[in-house]
Amino acid sequence: MRKNIVAGNWKMNTVLEEGVELASQVNDLLKETPAKCEVVICVPFTHLVSIKGVIDEPLKLGAENCSEHVKGAYTGEVSASMVKSTGASHVILGHSERRQYFGENNEMLLKKTRLALENGLTPIFCVGEVLEERENGTYNEVVKAQVEALFELTPEEFGKIIIAYEPVWAIGTGKTATSDQAQEMHAHIRKVIAQKYGVEIADNTSILYGGSCKPSNAKELFSKTDVDGGLIGGASLEAESFMGIVKAFD
Ligand code: PGA
Repeated sequence: MRKNIVAGNWKMNTVLEEGVELASQVNDLLKETPAKCEVVICVPFTHLVSIKGVIDEPLKLGAENCSEHVKGAYTGEVSASMVKSTGASHVILGHSERRQYFGENNEMLLKKTRLALENGLTPIFCVGEVLEERENGTYNEVVKAQVEALFELTPEEFGKIIIAYEPVWAIGTGKTATSDQAQEMHAHIRKVIAQKYGVEIADNTSILYGGSCKPSNAKELFSKTDVDGGLIGGASLEAESFMGIVKAFD
C-alpha cells in the first residue's frame, strides 16, 4: 500500500549554517517522537553534502531540481548523478516555480524524471493549475496533461514516482485548497494514472498536497482518502511547524 509522506521544500532559503541547523533540529525532533509517515527534506544543492553529514535514518534528503542533461558543458547545472552522489534519495521535479520562471516544459521534465530514476533517485513530481485555470474550470484537464507527460515511462518506472498536487494559486499565498478540492483533484489524478497503468500502480502512488499547508490545516487535508501527505514550503523552514505537520499523521 502507498506510503504517507511529508516532504519539506526549502526553496532558495537559508545559508549553509542555517540550513545545517534546521536539518539537525528536524533530525533531533524525529528521534524524540518517531513519525508515522516518511519524512523528507528537500534543500538547496549547496547544502546537500553538509546536511547529509548531520542527519540519519529515518530522515530522508532530497534536492529541489536536477538537470535534464547527463553531464558535460552545461555551466551551472547539477546532474541527477551529482545529486545522487551526495547521498540524497529524492528530487523535486517540475515545481510550478521551475515551470513558470525557468521555462521547464513537459519534454524537459520527462528527461529529468528519466535521469533521476536511472540514478536511483525518487522524483517528487509536481503538478497543479494556475488561478485562471481553476476559475475557468479547465483544472482537471490541465493537471491530467501534466501527469500524462510522464506516460512514456514504463509501469515499473512510473511506480517509483511520488506526485505532488500543488495548485499554484495556493503556493505561498496563505490560500489553501479546501480538503474537498484537494480530495477531488487527488482522486482525479489517481484515476488518470489507473487508466494508463492500472489500479494497482495508481493505488500504490503517493499523492501529496502542497500549497499553504501548515500545522493547523494538515490534519484535515491528510484525512482525505487520496491525500497521502504534503509538500511543504514556508512551514518547513521552522522545525517545530514542519514537525507539527508531520504529527498530523499521529
Ligand atoms: P508553500 O509552498 O507551502 O509555502 O505554499 C509549497 C511549495 O511550493 O512546495
